[in-house]
Amino acid sequence: MFQVADPIIRLMGLDKAFGSQAVLKGVNLDIERGKITTIIGGSGSGKSVLVKHIIGLLKPDAGQILYEGTDMVSLRPRALSEIRRNFGMLFQHSALFDSMDVEQNIAFPLEEHTKKSRREILSIVKEKLSLLELEGIERKTPSELSGGMRKRVALARAIVLNPQVIIYDEPTTGLDPIMTYNVDQMIKGAQEKLKVTSIVISHDMASTFRISDYIAMLYEGRIIEFGPPDAILSSNKEEVQRFLAASSLPPRAIVASGGEV
Ligand SMILES: Nc1ncnc2c1ncn2[C@@H]1O[C@H](COP(=O)(O)OP(=O)(O)OP(=O)(O)O)[C@@H](O)[C@H]1O
Ligand SMILES: [Mg+2]
Repeated sequence: MFQVADPIIRLMGLDKAFGSQAVLKGVNLDIERGKITTIIGGSGSGKSVLVKHIIGLLKPDAGQILYEGTDMVSLRPRALSEIRRNFGMLFQHSALFDSMDVEQNIAFPLEEHTKKSRREILSIVKEKLSLLELEGIERKTPSELSGGMRKRVALARAIVLNPQVIIYDEPTTGLDPIMTYNVDQMIKGAQEKLKVTSIVISHDMASTFRISDYIAMLYEGRIIEFGPPDAILSSNKEEVQRFLAASSLPPRAIVASGGEV
């Protein structure tokens, strides 16, 4: 399989079972620094479980998770929490604080992890709100928002500390086509302008082939294919081809037209 030149994160031989259900069975995956890596795979294949290991929310039964060469699995809580400051994560289910309004939700990581003044914090929050076209909803609580708006608020909160690595678990699910395009551009922009490393989980193949530098397919607990988009398209693995054929857009057409749909 394809080898990346400069991995910032290396997953080596990860096993994870819940009771008798083995979800990860020896996952090996390198995440290249400053690039966008997308993880694809069927519903229930373990994509969310996999990325929760990367930020230390789940511990593997076996295997190593190297961040800049340090094995995160054996770290003590304090050292782990230091490393985790480098990560931002957009959870699949937004996980906003229901009792806080939008502004408080987005400001929360800044208040927890920085010594910035109230004024600076509000100015950063405003900037993120504008980036995600959320102006004017500062005083609303999550229950007063649409699903797509909640997703964007969660996204704003995930990027508010300008992390080195951003993990997006289905960032565009539930968004309309224009907002999907905007979120794609945002992920690409963070990579191009800020050299952020991005790990994306997506069911949207059009968007996946538009933004990814690398694509990894998780199947039956292992990464069965990994490489640049064209290598995935020309994969000789039957499971990969079946997965691509079942997606609603023909990926070949997307790549052939230079990334535009
Ligand atoms: N905390 C947990 N306890 C027990 N089982 C879990 C836990 N988290 C996930 N699982 C199980 O692990 C399997 C993989 O779940 P996961 O959420 O990673 O799938 P996924 O690939 O993200 O799917 P989807 O595309 O639908 O989001 C599922 O069978 C799920 O029920
Ligand atoms: Mg999931």
